[in-house]
Amino acid sequence: MASYKLLLLPGDGIGVEVMAEVERVIDWFNRRGAVSFETESDLVGGAAYDAHGQSISDETMRRADEADAIIFGAVGGPKWDSVPYDVRPEAGLLRLRKDLKLFANLRPAVCYKALAQSSSLKTELVEGLDILILRELTGGVYFGEPKEITELGNGQKRAVDTQVYETYEIDRIARVAFELSRARQSRVTSAEKHNVMKSGVLWKEVVTQTHKDGFEDVTLDHMLADALGMQLVRRPKQFDVILTDNLFGDILSDVAAMLTGSLGMLPSASLGAPDGQTGRRKALYEPVHGSAPDIAGQGKANPLAMIASFGMALRYSFDRGAEADLVEHAVSAVLDEGYRTGDIMADGCRLVGTQEMGEAVVKAMDRLA
Ligand code: NAI
Ligand code: MG
Repeated sequence: MASYKLLLLPGDGIGVEVMAEVERVIDWFNRRGAVSFETESDLVGGAAYDAHGQSISDETMRRADEADAIIFGAVGGPKWDSVPYDVRPEAGLLRLRKDLKLFANLRPAVCYKALAQSSSLKTELVEGLDILILRELTGGVYFGEPKEITELGNGQKRAVDTQVYETYEIDRIARVAFELSRARQSRVTSAEKHNVMKSGVLWKEVVTQTHKDGFEDVTLDHMLADALGMQLVRRPKQFDVILTDNLFGDILSDVAAMLTGSLGMLPSASLGAPDGQTGRRKALYEPVHGSAPDIAGQGKANPLAMIASFGMALRYSFDRGAEADLVEHAVSAVLDEGYRTGDIMADGCRLVGTQEMGEAVVKAMDRLA
């Protein structure tokens, strides 16, 4: 039986609570599945800072590097607001992304049938929605140099951010988009602003070239990023995979997320380049939400985003599509049965806590397997 090594990094606040529920799902596979996992837990974020003064230790980084996948909760909280900038809780997550070169950020926006009514859009626009936003995560305007504010000496200041992309960065993220789309509807929409940005011109050119290089079975469209934003709220179901840069991806993925309901429902994955020998990508899976200090420690957090993030690990790190489907179907089933945590509560539904929701998912897996 295939066995994989998972590094669990619960972090802070509700990160710890939702991780306990994903462990229930992992245990289920260890008991029942055709795949098994060896897990190791470690500290990150504020919890790591409290223990040893760093938001992630070198030893934890070594374990992260060795693991087949990292399952990450959330970091941060008011307790650490005044710690030094370079050891703040978020620095632990940024170091993982940077040192492991996790350049491809996958943000699915899936609208579960039972939650379609709570979308800010009309039910028929979002019911059955299943899109994947692929955001370039390690380049672009958030990292480009120069990046500075200078005094001009006349009482004015000048701020500069620089959008930089090189061919290889666009090519490698485009490859991920085309590959992922093949397990879906084989349609990719690439978004940039080639009408006003040189980086957009290069983006479009490289994506077009990469498409010709072995991906012509996939349908490729180009759309200006602002127009895509409009289409995303007008007729979201027209999209399958959306490929875009770091800045546009940040904004568009948050817009897409809100089409589907609560933060507590949204998973994500961050992938690196395939290993030369094994072909396996370094990968980190985490819910989109943060540590939710307002509800931490109360057993109220919705664990479904965390559980769905593990579902993504099954799909993207371990090539276990059937097992990933099982996790997704179990999440869908508990919603159909009316189980709701506070963040997604609706009339006539049954209010449950974090643990009860996790237990319900595992029971649904028992039934559906
Ligand atoms: P947040 O995502 O933690 O919470 C925003 C709101 O959504 C809160 O009202 C919270 O109760 C609710 N919420 C979030 N996840 C939920 C869940 N699973 N179930 C039920 N309700 C949920 O964002 P916020 O409040 O801006 O940040 C809190 C802390 O988390 C900050 O320290 C921030 O820096 C950190 N953060 C960490 C992230 C990460 O680890 N990747 C991402 C975002 C924020
Ligand atoms: Mg954002």
